[in-house]
Parts: sequence; structure tokens; C-alpha cells
Amino acid sequence: MADTITITDDRTGKTVTVPITDGVFPASAIRELDPSLFVYDPAYMQTAACKSSITYLDGDNGVLRYRGYPIEQLAEHSTYLEVAYLLLNGELPDQTQLDQWRHDVTHHTFIHENMRKRFVDGFHYDAHPMGMFVSSLAALGTFYNDAKDIHSKESRDKQIMRLIAKTPTLAAMAYRFSVGLPFVYPQNELSFPANFLNMMWKVSGYEVDPRLERAMDVMIILHADHEQNCGTTAMRIVGSSQADPYSSAAAAASALYGPLHGGANEAVVRMLTEIGSIENVPAFIDEVKSGKGSRLMGFGHRVYKNYDPRATIIKKAAYDVFEVTGKNPLLDIALKLEEAALSDSYFIDRKLYPNVDFYSGLIYQAMGFPVDMFTVLFAIPRTAGWLAHWQELLTDKDQKISRPRQWYAGPDERQYVAIGDR
Ligand code: CMC
Repeated sequence: MADTITITDDRTGKTVTVPITDGVFPASAIRELDPSLFVYDPAYMQTAACKSSITYLDGDNGVLRYRGYPIEQLAEHSTYLEVAYLLLNGELPDQTQLDQWRHDVTHHTFIHENMRKRFVDGFHYDAHPMGMFVSSLAALGTFYNDAKDIHSKESRDKQIMRLIAKTPTLAAMAYRFSVGLPFVYPQNELSFPANFLNMMWKVSGYEVDPRLERAMDVMIILHADHEQNCGTTAMRIVGSSQADPYSSAAAAASALYGPLHGGANEAVVRMLTEIGSIENVPAFIDEVKSGKGSRLMGFGHRVYKNYDPRATIIKKAAYDVFEVTGKNPLLDIALKLEEAALSDSYFIDRKLYPNVDFYSGLIYQAMGFPVDMFTVLFAIPRTAGWLAHWQELLTDKDQKISRPRQWYAGPDERQYVAIGDR
């Protein structure tokens, strides 16, 4: 059978045949048929807007790979910095490359004092840390005159290193500000996750528990990339206008902020707290099914129609964390909810399974993070994914400024009516 598709415009009888490659055919076929004909595809459900070699996702079979490496293997054997290198460069680093990368990132963790003293101090005392993080990302770009030099690989590499190195500092700064604690400067002798935990929690005598350091590293590996999700698409769309990477990353982080995206882990903990006890689970499930209440947060995914492989790893990591911190009392409610949903035809028929956010909030809460920080924790590692896609976009000859078409559904031309006659 030929791997082609033939489309006929029944209005004119014109026919176009184009190849199907890896299940994709070029939309230029539609243009060839009739340049004024468009495809209506809200939310890009059926549209591949780019070719990408970064992350492979098979939602029906619960498969996730970064540059070909299964997420399970990376979560077990790798570190976030190694994974960030892999996402950005396409290959795992050798020892020399990793040492250099670790050195470069570690020595760019400080941020300009004006950022802290003038910018961050200007926020209202109860500002949401994610709002602070989004704005700090954009503000950070104003400190680097070379940020706009996006056509130079050397400059791109420098901005990438700065962004990866400084996002944990911005995140911890947002947190310390929100609780009125003095900022803790980065400590270059610590690992990437330990340095972040130290900046978050350091008061006299604090030492990072190596088990929590590892758990943090696993969590950030799992969140580093997820192909063309809403945030990454925002990064690509804004990046396609040739904006600097700080502004583009701020747009991506804004997209991540929403409760249907990275804000879901925060929503999960709020939902579990509201349910309050396992006796209330059946009534909550009924309410979700009736469509009158909230959705079951942390369940369902646009692409996964099976268990999200990250959720499996996170569920296991939760028990490792609870060994150090004590069990999060919301865990029993989460387990009961999962059990109830996975045996209910409403969720089975719609292929709704736990996603990455269902258990991650429980871990973060047990580690002491306030719920307001959860999306910020997602944004730190996702910065690597955003930047990998940004870099891929800028070197892809097929790409132009993003500019979708619309299906105009407004009024036809009409004449202006003077205000007294309306
Ligand atoms: N609880 C109850 N019903 C749901 C849920 C849910 N969590 N998710 C989807 N449905 C139902 C939905 O009502 C619809 O039912 P019907 O066909 O009867 O109208 C059907 O399932 C299909 O849903 P959809 O909204 O068309 O699916 P989507 O692909 O547009 O949405 C989603 C994907 C993730 C936005 C959605 O599943 C959701 O809102 N989940 C809860 C929020 C959440 O956990 N988000 C985190 C996503 S993973 C992390 C990330 O990528 O950022």
C-alpha cells in the first residue's frame, strides 16, 4: 500500500497526492489545492507544527524518551545536569564534557544584586512565587546586552547556561522573599539539586539530606521536557519572532502557570486537602462525574491515554521521600482516589490515568515546599526543555515566525452608526 494521501476538493474536482512520512503529511497539500483553504484545528489537536528530535512520546503505550533514552533509565542512573546536557546537545556527555558543563553551570548561579535588591524587593509581600518567577525571568534578560544576539551560537550557548544556572536562584529567592527570610547565596561546591535545596531551606545548622537531594534530582529529570506541550509551544511561538530567550522563557513559564498545565500539582494538593478523608472519596468522584464539580486534578492527559510513565516513577519516589520526612497524610486519600477512578467506567472509558502531577505535589509538600512553589519547581528543570526546543527552532530551516490563520466568524461589512442612533 502506498504511503501517500490523496485529497480531492469536491468543489473543483482538483486532486493532490502527497507522501505520508512517519504518519505525517505536509499541509502544503492544502495550499496546493487552494491557497485560500485552511484547516480548522483548535488546540492543534491534529497539527504537527515542527519536526523535533528531542523527546519521543507514545501516549497509548505510556512511553517517554529523551533523545532516545527511556525516562525510566535516566531517572534511575542519571542526574539533571547530565539530562539537561543530553536534551540540549543530543548526546550524553563524556566525563570531560560533563565536568566542564557542571563547572560552567555552577559558576553562573549568582544573579546581579540589583535583581534582588531592587526588582524582587519591589513585589508585594504576598506575591505568588510563580508570578515573581515569570517576571524575574524576563527581567534577567535586561542584564545581558548579548541576550538579543540569537543568531550567534556562542551567544545562545551563553544564555542557555545562564538560564539553566540561575533559575534555581530565582526560584529560591522568590520563596525566601515570600516568607521574609534573608536570601541564601548559591554555594558552588554543592550539586545542582543540593544547591537549590540549600538556598531554599538554609538556616543555621541545615544540611541537605542526600536522599532528598537524590529525590529532587529525580523529580527535575522527570520534568525536564515533554515535547510540544503548552509551555514549550509558547516558547517556540515567542521564540519564532526572534525574541531573546529570557522573554521567550518568561512566556513559556506563563503558560506553565495555568492549572491545566504546570499548575495542576498545586491544584491536586488543594483538591486532596478539600476532600479531607477517604470516606469522602466516593462522593467526590460522583461530583467529578456529574460535571458539576471540579475535574479530578492530576488525572488525564492530552497525549497519554495510559498511565503516565513519570507518574509511576514519582509514586515510587514518594515512598523514598516519606522515609525521610514521614508520610504525607494526604497520601491515603490520593491512593483511594486513584483506586476508585481506575475501577470506574467514567475514567476507564475516557482513558483517564494519573499524570505526572498526581503524586508530585505530595512529595513536594512532604519536603516542606508550600503549594505556591510547586509550579516554580516544575519550571526550573523545564527551562532545559524550553531552551532545547528554542535552539532547535532557530536552526530549523523550515521554521518561520508562527502565524496561524483564523476562521472568521464575525459580521460582514457594516456601516458605522453614530452614538446617538445606536
Ligand atoms: N477529570 C474528569 N474528567 C476529565 C478529566 C479529569 N481530570 N480530564 C478529562 N476529562 C474528561 C472530559 O470531561 C471529557 O469528557 P467528555 O468526553 O464526556 O466531555 C474527556 O475526559 C476528554 O477530556 P478533554 O478535556 O477533551 O481532554 P484534553 O486532552 O483536552 O485535556 C487535560 C487534557 C490534561 C487538560 C485534562 O485531562 C485535565 O483537565 N486534567 C486535569 C488537569 C491536570 O491534571 N493537568 C495536568 C496535565 S499533565 C502535566 C502537564 O503536561 O502540564
